[in-house]
Amino acid sequence: MVPHSKNSPASPTSSSPLLHIDTTRLYREGVGAEGIDKTEIEALAPEFRRVHQTVIDKSAGGLNAEFACLSLHDSMPESLPQIEAAAEQMRHFEDVAVIGIGGSSLGAKAVYQALGADEPGPRRPRLHFLENLDPRHLDSLRRNRSAEKTAVICISKAGGTIETIVQYLIVREWLEQQLGKNEARQHQWLITDPAQGWLREVARRDGITSLPVPPRVGGRYSVLTAVGLLPLAAVGVDIRGLLAGSAANAARCAAENPRTNPALEMAAMFYLFDTRKNKRVSIMMPYADPLQLFGDWYRQLWAESLGKRRGGRRDDPPAGTLPVTALGTVDQHSQLQMYLESRRDKIFTFMTIDHWRQNPLIPLSSDDRKSFPYLEGKRLQDVLEAEFRATSQVITEAGHPNMTLCLPTLDAHALGQLIDLYQRATVYAALLYGINPLDQPAVEKGKKLAIQLLSGGR
Ligand code: PA5
Repeated sequence: MVPHSKNSPASPTSSSPLLHIDTTRLYREGVGAEGIDKTEIEALAPEFRRVHQTVIDKSAGGLNAEFACLSLHDSMPESLPQIEAAAEQMRHFEDVAVIGIGGSSLGAKAVYQALGADEPGPRRPRLHFLENLDPRHLDSLRRNRSAEKTAVICISKAGGTIETIVQYLIVREWLEQQLGKNEARQHQWLITDPAQGWLREVARRDGITSLPVPPRVGGRYSVLTAVGLLPLAAVGVDIRGLLAGSAANAARCAAENPRTNPALEMAAMFYLFDTRKNKRVSIMMPYADPLQLFGDWYRQLWAESLGKRRGGRRDDPPAGTLPVTALGTVDQHSQLQMYLESRRDKIFTFMTIDHWRQNPLIPLSSDDRKSFPYLEGKRLQDVLEAEFRATSQVITEAGHPNMTLCLPTLDAHALGQLIDLYQRATVYAALLYGINPLDQPAVEKGKKLAIQLLSGGR
């Protein structure tokens, strides 16, 4: 971290700074015996060539490609005018209820929090994420918000996910009762598969404005499609900056050598820690409240993409490290004891922010100065940085592998880079394990079973 800067966040141009990614302490030289030896990485060179070539082959072809999620910075710009026009209409509302779950919610939620778009501003509605089934939350929305001033974005790629649909039905009924059917339709936007599913039928039948989820982009990889871009544009997030950041990271990951391709390096390291060192818990610990929900987004991406059997059968070896989220400094006072002294099965990713726009000086009276002489002239970020460095040092001295991702500043470009970095690393990791990063067979089973139970089955 560096001292406070009064500059506003960098505008997302090609010269916007890249994330600083420090992986030194994942290696034996940086952390000791439990780190990865450089020779172990070098021995995988043919594998790196294979997985990198697969990513290139399967991302070519834009939205029709199997890994369409890795080139959205190239394919989405042509849809931006439609997304921006819808967002512009939404600015007339005070509140926007975003109904969706998992990949249809976590990405927008994370960026909304990270960029402080929930702070009041001119012509900026507030987003309310209706994700989990929470009768109190729904009730409070209906009691405390005005239907005239509320818009709804309902998002489901499959178009029939039960948690999403029941919340949509309840909110739609409320809008219709307050405004009448025709007016209620002007308050709704549906984001779903372009051709199929219940929501698509509703859009056609009731003439509700809809935007497509590209069919080849899976839920947890869809934050850079209308799924994330529409709600974020509605609150004024720089969605072109997000895409520019994603493009910058993709360009940075163009080589087949993990030394110069950070997504491939991360995938390779997590894969090796799992398969060679029994390190099966990967902890993401931002030292920044705004990045807390980014951890939730990463957790779903990593867990649903990699938590599988390598040959697909029950008795095949499992893949994937368990993603766990923590928050600095709070979890120093909560989980750190276990991290340091319990099972040695963990790898850590710290996240920090270099330039905070807000960074107050710590005010000290002469009495305070006597008690806390080391706080003289310090700002809040100085304390945060000291806490982060202390934790990373004790973790390193205890021999636990760890890495740090430092965002130059908290802006759309940096978030776009992070999103691409993790999506790309997840796909590479899946290819190293030999599994499909895009499916989630166990989740699908659960969805079907819930419907059977509601239908009276057992
Ligand atoms: O990544 C995924 O595919 C899932 O987590 C989905 O995002 C989640 O189940 C919601 O699905 P849908 O958008 O189809 O309602």
